[in-house]
Amino acid sequence: MKPPLFPLLTLLLTLTIPFTNAQPPTNCAASRKLLPPHHFILTEQPDNPNLTTLSTIFTSLNRRVPISILFTTTNRALSNPTTTSSYTRWTFQSGDNTTPKWIPQGISSTADALDKGTYEGHDGWVISWHRDDDKSVRVSFVNRKDNTYRHALLVYPHMEDDFTEVPIHAGGVVWYGDTLWVVDTRRGVRVFDLGNVWEVDVGGGIGKVGEGRYEAREYRFVVPQVRWYKWTGAFPFRFSYISLDRTATPDTLMVGEYQPNTTVPIRMVQYPLDYTTRRLRMDGRVATATWAYCVGIERMQGAVQADGKVYISRSNGASRGDMFGWVPGKIAHNNEGFFPRSPEDLSYDKRGKKLYGLTEHEGQRYIISTDTSKVKSD
Ligand SMILES: *[C@@H]1O[C@H](CO)[C@@H](O)[C@H](O)[C@H]1NC(C)=O
Ligand SMILES: *[C@@H]1O[C@H](CO)[C@@H](O)[C@H](O)[C@H]1NC(C)=O
Repeated sequence: MKPPLFPLLTLLLTLTIPFTNAQPPTNCAASRKLLPPHHFILTEQPDNPNLTTLSTIFTSLNRRVPISILFTTTNRALSNPTTTSSYTRWTFQSGDNTTPKWIPQGISSTADALDKGTYEGHDGWVISWHRDDDKSVRVSFVNRKDNTYRHALLVYPHMEDDFTEVPIHAGGVVWYGDTLWVVDTRRGVRVFDLGNVWEVDVGGGIGKVGEGRYEAREYRFVVPQVRWYKWTGAFPFRFSYISLDRTATPDTLMVGEYQPNTTVPIRMVQYPLDYTTRRLRMDGRVATATWAYCVGIERMQGAVQADGKVYISRSNGASRGDMFGWVPGKIAHNNEGFFPRSPEDLSYDKRGKKLYGLTEHEGQRYIISTDTSKVKSD
């Protein structure tokens, strides 16, 4: 009898293929750092119908306004820039620089929003801030022409004619087309609709305060949530920061985990985007990651990929922050003390290959711009 070679080979193949992919997504101790990405799943939740009814209300009140209004009605100003050998920085206006109530976390820009780099003719940054109780989020739109800015409140349409505050930490933000993506630490990513910026009456209330009257904690403009991507992986993942890679094809979103020490997995994950819909690429409503990696650097506060290289910010308590330059597969190079203390989220602008970042410590709240050429990698 001939040996049953063919069935044996088949058996070996079916055993080996799953085994090469077998590193569990929660095990970052093994030497292989690439993780099987299909375990990292986000499920898109239906668009909120209350956004549609509220949009009709604000349209009829003549208070649905273009995004550009946030750049043309600025009422605050960044400081003049200070330039060091590593970066240029601007300080937030005095109250914003020192208030314990609002803490800056995320940064993105019109260079993320659209490939051409400007939006409705404006060149600008967007910054997310969490409130000290993590029960509300505001965003600032900075007009780069004169470095003035204005805040707006993010809101959730919880009723067909009413909205409320958004109780998340907002550790990172990405502006993509007419959508604003904000991380919700344990739950996933929330998406806000910049095609629906609403002007409200200035007052201390939140949401509907009377017939045709809305307020938003003294802010004049609000941006409502339209949908969200729920983390549906079988294990916990922390959405600590978020960034966009427009140098990749397709456009790719990256999220990553902040952890204080390496006793737990510290991962980064990438999801491809659909630029025609401004949504994640999905099978039905399920978006599966295309890349997941055990990075294993403690206290990462932000990361962005551009041209195959990943830039990472790390906080070091009261000491200066670090910037890593990392080509996946190689060792991450630490540019020690690159940042002032407490760096946060990062963002990239391919015009001039710039990196944008920010720092959160009271009295030292800066927007930072640097050149990728200043960041060493191995
Ligand atoms: C929309 O509003 C209704 C009440 O008007 C509320 O019951 C429902 O939960 C809201 N939907 C969402 C998705 O929040
Ligand atoms: C590491 O972090 C985990 C989770 O945050 C914590 O439970 C643990 O005590 C920390 N260990 C050390 C050595 O700091």
